[in-house]
Amino acid sequence: MQVFTTKAAVRDSVRDWRAAGQSVALVPTMGYLHRGHMALVERAKAQADRVVTSIFVNPLQFGPGEDLATYPRDADRDLAMLRDAGVDGVFLPSVEEVYPPGAQTIVETTDLARMLIGKLRPGHFRGVTTVVTKLFNIVQPDVAVFGEKDYQQLCIIRQMVRDLDMPLRIEGVPTVREADGLALSSRNVRLTPEDRAAAVILSQSLFAAEEMAKTGITASRLRAWVAANIQANPRADLQSADIRDAATLASISGPLQRPAVILLAVRFGKVLLIDQRVVTP
Ligand code: PAF
Repeated sequence: MQVFTTKAAVRDSVRDWRAAGQSVALVPTMGYLHRGHMALVERAKAQADRVVTSIFVNPLQFGPGEDLATYPRDADRDLAMLRDAGVDGVFLPSVEEVYPPGAQTIVETTDLARMLIGKLRPGHFRGVTTVVTKLFNIVQPDVAVFGEKDYQQLCIIRQMVRDLDMPLRIEGVPTVREADGLALSSRNVRLTPEDRAAAVILSQSLFAAEEMAKTGITASRLRAWVAANIQANPRADLQSADIRDAATLASISGPLQRPAVILLAVRFGKVLLIDQRVVTP
């Protein structure tokens, strides 16, 4: 496995692979890898001859007062996991390599990036779309793989790729969960034991809502039930609970007629957890 710290080094290797007729998949990550990331790597391996994983904690997608400084990091462990998984190359750049001084250009989707998590974290998705565009331009993959856990992020990236005619395919991979249902996230390690135990309320609410969605309940009643169920847990500080059209993220309130996605953002102490589930009536 090659470890690249510069854009030029990634480009050289990708050029060689392409010259040999090989296709390339990219798995963008912020590191501190877990089984969820490894599921993305497995999907990437099934989609292309070569797999590049990027590890970059992107400062542009963290707002003032957010957890950039405390975001968990362990590059040695990440590299060992990626080597074992058979990844071909890891792009592990510095902040200066990605954002040289003087940069002025950002990439921004509009409506999709300003709703839901975009309201809780203004500017977050602008940081994501800017760095993802840069990674696409640096690696020039045929396919890039993202988790469905960050459902809004996945919708925004698909929209950006369509809007800007980016020449690659986007693959979404279902959320990987702990045995008790908690969605895997690098941030889970920052939960206290008490909050870790309480955090199971997200997946429990989602799984129960999935069953209720089959009973003819309206979207607004289902949303109210999910919100109340989470708020009943004294450790859970509900930031948002929404039910949206699964394809467009448009608001829905009446009877569920098409697949809908339930999107949750819940704070436990200083840790913001998100989770989602697509439900079908
Ligand atoms: O999902 C993430 O880990 C990040 O938002 C991403 C896509 C790697 C961009 O920094």
